[in-house]
Amino acid sequence: MISTVTQLAKPLVGIIMGSDSDLEVMQEAFKFLKDNDIPAEIKIVSAHRTPDAMVRYAKNARKKGLRVIIAGAGGSAHLPGMVASFTTLPVVGVPIHTKTLSGLDSLLSIVQMPPGIPVACVAINGGLNAAILACQILGLNSKNIQFMIEEYKKSLQSSVVEKSSKLERYGPSKYQNLLRALVKK
Ligand code: RP5
Repeated sequence: MISTVTQLAKPLVGIIMGSDSDLEVMQEAFKFLKDNDIPAEIKIVSAHRTPDAMVRYAKNARKKGLRVIIAGAGGSAHLPGMVASFTTLPVVGVPIHTKTLSGLDSLLSIVQMPPGIPVACVAINGGLNAAILACQILGLNSKNIQFMIEEYKKSLQSSVVEKSSKLERYGPSKYQNLLRALVKK
């Protein structure tokens, strides 16, 4: 269920992707934002198949209140770069894993932007990091969002400390068996 805040407030983050085959990865970004009550919208806009819609989206993004765009694409992944060329909003690019070249094609296509038109490129399939980076950008003007990210990072620290103490308590073999059992579930 989309939380009330996410549903009612005007979106601050626009998540777009070239195809519904990108959704599994881009959904991770949407989920992080939704879980943290950051208003976001999610759409399919293709640089190649719906170029006019892509230009309209990029040109209207700031006017309609978006503050960051997260764009995911695979293969000859032109969506993030083309959107960045039509807006002054920060664009976070998510290279999607591909069967043919394992996403290296998407990564290079997104990261190798020409001077003057930057895209902040995260890892292949890095939907979650794209959302965190978007929150860090929004956090420049929002103490609440900044605080949320601080708490999130603290939770990462605690989880590592907890894992390390379990590793010491059980020893490596037993701990690894526990991990395997968790994966099987
Ligand atoms: C890109 O082409 C999309 O971003 C997607 O990653 C890739 C393949 O699209 P489909 O053929 O699965 O629709 O534009």
